[in-house]
Amino acid sequence: MFESLHALPADPILGLSVAYQKDGNPNKVDLGVGVYKTETGETPIMKAVALAQRQRIDTETTKTYVSSAGDAGFNDKLAKLVFGAENPVLARQCTVTTPGGTGALRMAAELIKRCHPGATVWVTNPTWANHTALFQDAGLVVKSYRYFDKDNSCVDFAGMMEALKAIPKGDVVLLHACCHNPSGADLSQEQWKAFAELAKEKGFTPLLDMAYQGFGVGLEEDAFGPRYLAETLPELLLTTSGSKNFGMYRERVGALTMVAENGTRAEILSSVIQNVARCIYSMPPVHGAAIIDIILGSNELSALWQQELAEMRGRIHDLRALLVEKLHARQDQKDFSFITRQYGMFSFLGISPEQVRRLKEEFSVYMVDSSRMNLAGINHQNADYLADAIVKVL
Ligand code: LMR
Repeated sequence: MFESLHALPADPILGLSVAYQKDGNPNKVDLGVGVYKTETGETPIMKAVALAQRQRIDTETTKTYVSSAGDAGFNDKLAKLVFGAENPVLARQCTVTTPGGTGALRMAAELIKRCHPGATVWVTNPTWANHTALFQDAGLVVKSYRYFDKDNSCVDFAGMMEALKAIPKGDVVLLHACCHNPSGADLSQEQWKAFAELAKEKGFTPLLDMAYQGFGVGLEEDAFGPRYLAETLPELLLTTSGSKNFGMYRERVGALTMVAENGTRAEILSSVIQNVARCIYSMPPVHGAAIIDIILGSNELSALWQQELAEMRGRIHDLRALLVEKLHARQDQKDFSFITRQYGMFSFLGISPEQVRRLKEEFSVYMVDSSRMNLAGINHQNADYLADAIVKVL
């Protein structure tokens, strides 16, 4: 049976980490996979997470099964984190724990197939490198719509709205709730409102991928899109991840939230999605979800977590300014100031795949072929080396 298979190339993002690890150059710079790093290049466990984990280990009394919906406390608190604790939307939504944000996306794909097997999923052009593969692998058709204006390094909102006008009822439009991956270019509040109007008029269903709540402007501000859409539209799908804002990458904790027209429909969705989970992994891992449940349920740990998240956000913001300053001090051929107007971990540097290849081969600087950089990989030790290398390939 296996003889029909051929080896596949490494994943365009995850493969970079492997290549970086093997590189012996002491000056190597890792701007590849979207993982937060400190000034010394480490990804430590957040203090709030370490404390909650200790508490969990000390108080956990059983490892028996949970339900296919995962950790009920986590599901409840996560929905409140996204929508706000008093939001009436909470009464017509259902949130389930999933194995990471990627697992949430796959669950969304399976749900879409059960509702409407012929649906097309429309993704931003460009989008996270795994979106297209993931939905196609689930058997859905994937197409892209205009999103990023490469010439001006911002959202091509007019182009996006024009493209979305042609999308029929029953299709799904995937948008990044904040910190667009890979461009860092987000919608303004006015643009979210206009998008909601269009979704209402055309009848397509938005699917918001929110992997970076708290990395853009702030926890509340980053949730504007999901809140506005949930409040104004009858239906919405939302995927979240605890990988980045809780730094729990390897614990695989995420959630799928389904907002329905009313509470009765939300209950139906709950039963269907649990059936989907049962057929794939039966029930999700809950160690990470239980830790987040403890943090969000404690005023003290929540405050500590929010402070740590604000520090990460602030540091990336400062690194954006640092890189632009270093690049502008070395050349005046290209204006890189757009990097400081974008949000989250990523920006496109705006160079060709050939220049990206040269950065890797000649300078051991690693970024995705599209020239997506993880800004968190910059620090005060490598910024000059990085800027010199970039200027040399320009
Ligand atoms: C990224 O975009 O680098 C991260 O979301 C990690 C991943 O799984 O691709």
